Amino acid sequence: MRKIIIAGNWKMHKTQAESLEFLQIFKSKLENANEAMEIVLCSAFTSLGVMSKSLHGSRIKLGAQNIHWEDKGAYTGEISGDMLTEIGVSYTIVGHSERRQYFGETDETVNLRLKAAQSHGIRPILCVGETKAQRDASQTEQIVINQLQKALVDVDLNNLVIAYEPIWAIGTGDTCQATEANRVIGLIRSQLDNKNVSIQYGGSVKANNIDEIMAQPEIDGALVGGASLDAATFARIVNYQ
Ligand code: PGA
Repeated sequence: MRKIIIAGNWKMHKTQAESLEFLQIFKSKLENANEAMEIVLCSAFTSLGVMSKSLHGSRIKLGAQNIHWEDKGAYTGEISGDMLTEIGVSYTIVGHSERRQYFGETDETVNLRLKAAQSHGIRPILCVGETKAQRDASQTEQIVINQLQKALVDVDLNNLVIAYEPIWAIGTGDTCQATEANRVIGLIRSQLDNKNVSIQYGGSVKANNIDEIMAQPEIDGALVGGASLDAATFARIVNYQ
């Protein structure tokens, strides 16, 4: 069964105090959210500890935004699976386009990070998606399939979420048409041997377009950046109609 998963990606936002302030409001607004849905918050590393304590006994799952492939070592600025699981992290984003664009992530490092997450029992959210230039050149399908093929070598499809995030739609307010996102996500699913992998859409998901996005048959949830920073707005998103 494909699970509905809505995840907030806070990127480099929120101090510990701001994270707790968000949770206080957000936790009180979930009574009507679909019981079967998974709600995930991917905070900055510095907030994970306080978030974990505050989420104890709540249905909200804790996520990180990256994970290194080694358990320890001379990797300045990185974080390991042991460090994340000790705090209670159960999801991590891997291969976000901002990591690929600004921090040199490649399909090969993405693959290593996916396998490391899974070996620690952390469910990775693998991000794939094309740039505007690639879309304009009609390369969307080829780019996405190529990213998947390289990222998924020896990856367990039973413990994986994929997020289709067209790069031109991230943080731009320029959402991909819901029907087009549905088409590409259907294509992604057709490439997978396991048909139960949850596939999210991400890129300018807002309170005013979530209902249409979630109405699409292939779309199993959303990865939400900017609109996950405000507790009331993100609550409206997880309470989609
Ligand atoms: P956005 O970001 O919702 O602000 O477009 C999505 C993401 O980067 O995951």
